[in-house]
Amino acid sequence: MPLQTIDKGAIVRWLTACADSIAANREYLTKLDAAIGDGDHGVNMDRGFKAVVVKLSAGAEMDIPQLMKSAGMTLISTVGGASGPLYGTFFLQAAQVCAGKAELTLADWIAMLKAAMNGIMARGKASAGDKTMLDALAPAVQALEDAAAQVHSTAGALALSACAAKAGMSATEPLVARKGRASYLGERSAGHLDPGAASMYLLLKAAAETLASR
Ligand SMILES: Nc1ncnc2c1ncn2[C@@H]1O[C@H](COP(=O)(O)OP(=O)(O)OP(=O)(O)O)[C@@H](O)[C@H]1O
Ligand SMILES: [Mg+2]
Repeated sequence: MPLQTIDKGAIVRWLTACADSIAANREYLTKLDAAIGDGDHGVNMDRGFKAVVVKLSAGAEMDIPQLMKSAGMTLISTVGGASGPLYGTFFLQAAQVCAGKAELTLADWIAMLKAAMNGIMARGKASAGDKTMLDALAPAVQALEDAAAQVHSTAGALALSACAAKAGMSATEPLVARKGRASYLGERSAGHLDPGAASMYLLLKAAAETLASR
């Protein structure tokens, strides 16, 4: 049986689910950021994803790459802080990789997330273990690559990637931040989850819940 593909409707459902999940976790993300940053992450991300959803309803004729590009541009212009440009990069890089595609295979999705991760690394100069959003994204990409070789369904691979993102997010707790505002705290940044890793996990969890369902 061929692996289930990801169509435009699934991408719309995913972006909508991202906005719902970020809204539901707005206070949680803000609390995490208040502990080691400036307490704006939940508010910023909620503002950004609400704007992404407004663009969705205005652009019914957008294809998948245009949806991803629109999300990236919208996040860059509405989120602010460190994470706005970084999440913008995530979506813009993913958009480039899926240029010209009307629907996505699991391999396309993996290539998109990988490009998104490399874009965030290039832009923010962080790497895994620095206590950032990459600590949720990198293991998710790795899990997808491993799963693609073994798992028999797109849904199964996406679920494994969300699990890996969750483990990666949890593993940021003892880390000392080496990038972003939290790094100003030095050793005192240890003992708290990274807010960007938490929001990244929410986006990847939403992907697992929406992309392979019809
Ligand atoms: N260089 C980086 N690379 C990857 N992720 C980063 C980097 N710097 C910060 N982050 C992520 O951004 C999150 C914080 O996002 P937020 O929107 O709260 O930015 P901020 O620190 O308030 O930005 P600013 O200091 O510009 O106001 C962190 O938890 C971390 O995951
Ligand atoms: Mg902040």
